[in-house]
Amino acid sequence: MTELLPDQMIDEDRFRRTLALHAAGVVVVTAACEGVPVGLTATSFSSVSLSPPLVSFYVDQGSTTWPSLRRAERFAVNILEAGQADVAARFARRGVDRFAAPLRWRPHDDGTPLLDGVCAHLLCVPHTTMDIGDHILVVGLVTSAGIHESDRPLLYHRGRFGRFHALDG
Ligand SMILES: Cc1cc2nc3c(=O)[nH]c(=O)nc-3n(C[C@H](O)[C@H](O)[C@H](O)COP(=O)(O)O)c2cc1C
Repeated sequence: MTELLPDQMIDEDRFRRTLALHAAGVVVVTAACEGVPVGLTATSFSSVSLSPPLVSFYVDQGSTTWPSLRRAERFAVNILEAGQADVAARFARRGVDRFAAPLRWRPHDDGTPLLDGVCAHLLCVPHTTMDIGDHILVVGLVTSAGIHESDRPLLYHRGRFGRFHALDG
């Protein structure tokens, strides 16, 4: 790993403010751990490979959801719809039952929780995990996908939720 002297490193606040300019789609990663649904909001979701079909996201080392999520045999990536900012906020909040009503969700055949009203979901089996900095890279092998009615994704930019507006209307 490249080692930098402290005066060669970017200031943390500047790093955060720069990254905040990168608009991102918002997903909720869900899984069932010994029958208990768990999930967290993530903007670090990315496609990785087409063949084999791989996707990834990063989890903070301090996540209280990760110890459960890492034990799950499958997980789902729920791609949130523009009207689901409340769902994104709920799955980022600690000390609440993230799956309680009025959230609508259902278990897939294998028990993995799938959120209602999303643009799409991907069902994955864990492929690779790797510690990187203060996060864990999680790579999933996609086994199936559900594409739903809405194609309007929820976006996140400079700490605010928004929606996509195509320049060509
Ligand atoms: C818009 C948004 C994006 C987020 N993206 C990530 C992410 O990519 N990785 C991550 O570990 N946490 C991310 N978080 C924070 C988690 O959703 C959650 O707040 C955090 O993991 C604390 O909950 P936990 O202890 O259950 O993990 C994000 C939060 C928000 C609101």
